[in-house]
Amino acid sequence: MPEQVIAVHRRAGAGTSRRFGSYLSLRDFEDAARRLLPKMLYGYVNGAVETRASMLEAEAVYGEFALIPNQLVDVSCRDQSRTLLGNRYASPFGVSPLGGAAIVAYDGDKVLAQAARVANVPMILSASSLTKLEDIHREYPGAWFQAYLPGDDLRIRAMLGRVAAAGFETLVVTADTPVPGNRENNVRSGFSMPLRITPKVALDSALHPRWFLGTVARTFLRSGVPHFENMDATQGPPMLSQNLVRNMDHRDRLSWQHVALIRDVWKGKLIIKGLLSRHDVAKARDVGADGIIASNHGGRQLDYAISPIRVLPELRAEAKSMAVMMDGGIRRGTDVVKALALGADFVFVGRPFLYAAAIGGADGVLHAMALLRDELDRNMALLGLRQLEEITSGIVRHVKGSPHA
Ligand code: GLV
Repeated sequence: MPEQVIAVHRRAGAGTSRRFGSYLSLRDFEDAARRLLPKMLYGYVNGAVETRASMLEAEAVYGEFALIPNQLVDVSCRDQSRTLLGNRYASPFGVSPLGGAAIVAYDGDKVLAQAARVANVPMILSASSLTKLEDIHREYPGAWFQAYLPGDDLRIRAMLGRVAAAGFETLVVTADTPVPGNRENNVRSGFSMPLRITPKVALDSALHPRWFLGTVARTFLRSGVPHFENMDATQGPPMLSQNLVRNMDHRDRLSWQHVALIRDVWKGKLIIKGLLSRHDVAKARDVGADGIIASNHGGRQLDYAISPIRVLPELRAEAKSMAVMMDGGIRRGTDVVKALALGADFVFVGRPFLYAAAIGGADGVLHAMALLRDELDRNMALLGLRQLEEITSGIVRHVKGSPHA
């Protein structure tokens, strides 16, 4: 682990690091990333499908819940660590799977893994990543792997064999992607995966030289054109390509029958991601999953998909002993508190950590994690809470509309 990375984490008390002193909240990384990245790439990360309702609502919904503190409690010994799936983590949040991270941030998958390892929180490597899953496991043996699996027994077995051979202990199967979402913003900006170098893409890149030199040129000089390494048991197409497409065949055949097969073959922990219906949570439980991630895929799949936070209480009730995790719109410590109060054991944060990686590599991600950790710590004190177990539904009240509307 680079000394520098560890040093930043030790200092945090976020906000004390000189390099990131002006980054006071996760939003600050988003603003800086908007300036750093080509329009098409920022649009890819920031974007959602069609009307964007599903993404915007997932963020705005936290404003509908107000907090009720308990005063005059001795909160001098606060602890935000949490045991999840048999592992003790320092905070109840981790890194969501982030496709294409290594083209947004230099060595993006690796720096996210490094930061998560130092901060002792989980990181989920995306199937749409550009770094071999074996390398990420070496960097952070506690990382999880997220698969996009086809409804094809042979390919499922081959992929699970590879993930297990690499040493991963936790597999996340994404359930909400039978077909790609309708990302009009990518079409308008000229962005695609793999990326086609059109005059528009070239101009957008040239206008963002700090990103181009610091991420693209540096990556190409170090290791050539990145490939989609983890879609299947064998290497996928290069990131830059005029005509190759990623193999998404048969994803629309994936069904609960395949999940039963996966459960049979995969000996580690199994998480199903992208569930929003309690009936699906019941199926995940019946099939023997260890947990679920309630998610609308950051608004990147079905538009108007309900915000995970709205269904958390019913999913929690249905999940029984399964772990209930969620992602979507978490930007503040208070959002984490609300998600936990409504039934989540753990939350995942995506875009903000990727922006932090683009701005500051592993140090940037550690700073972002420290900001969220410190916000949560402060909020726990102000709410009269010493441990996460004391976060109950009684500390949130659904108030009509958003108090900030
Ligand atoms: C990848 O999973 C994406 O949503 O772009």
